Amino acid sequence: MELNITLRVSRHPARNGKAFDEFQVKLEEKMSVLDALFRVQREQDSSLGFRCSCRVGMCGTCAVYVNRIPRLACSTLVKSLESDVVTIEPLPHYPIVKDVAVSLEPFFEQWRRAKPAFRPRNPDSAELARIPKDSKYRLLTPTKRDCITCGACFAACSIVGMNDHYLGPAAINKAFLRILDPRDAAREERVKILDRSLDGVWRCHTQFNCTAACPRNIDVTDSIVRIKRALLWPGRLLKP
Ligand code: SF4
Ligand code: FES
Repeated sequence: MELNITLRVSRHPARNGKAFDEFQVKLEEKMSVLDALFRVQREQDSSLGFRCSCRVGMCGTCAVYVNRIPRLACSTLVKSLESDVVTIEPLPHYPIVKDVAVSLEPFFEQWRRAKPAFRPRNPDSAELARIPKDSKYRLLTPTKRDCITCGACFAACSIVGMNDHYLGPAAINKAFLRILDPRDAAREERVKILDRSLDGVWRCHTQFNCTAACPRNIDVTDSIVRIKRALLWPGRLLKP
């Protein structure tokens, strides 16, 4: 089955005074939003700017707003949108580099602040290869480890939109994983960062926008809520 759609693409800088350009595109049934962007770039406007790398939903590079929802362009079938008009915009809360390509620097600035790297208590120990079977790390993290740093949750978060200093959902989720890891030595340092009143977990209003936006189905809001509970009742959830 062939699809005929109107692709509306945000342009930055605006071209001929227009913030959006419209392209009529013919697509095969199983083509993605990224395929549509490539088709326009190859056949109608080679100046169109967008980002991608793996094209199989693994690298997180191609996240854009599709009909006002953050999605991975490579993993979103145009057919699944059930619309003849598909509007592509850059993710909000990021500086635009060109058209729908953004810089993820604000996201990674917060990511770095949350100290995402594992810091072993004892690098020489055999403990590094073992995590106790009944640790909270094992029980809670299988559904939370899959972050591909696409930045969609950061774009969807209304608190990020109001507060440049807020850590944001993905950085908090990453810190949560490290805090639960019984082999890690920087737990107290991370807890202090998360507990800061102006930019830590207390800024979250539990709106679930991050969870709804995550293409890896990570329940990011749940991580934030668990940290809040643990800060209110110290030791209850943060102990391995
Ligand atoms: S938590 Fe989900 S939405 Fe946020 S950066 Fe990671 S994969 Fe993307
Ligand atoms: S291009 Fe890698 S996730 Fe889409």
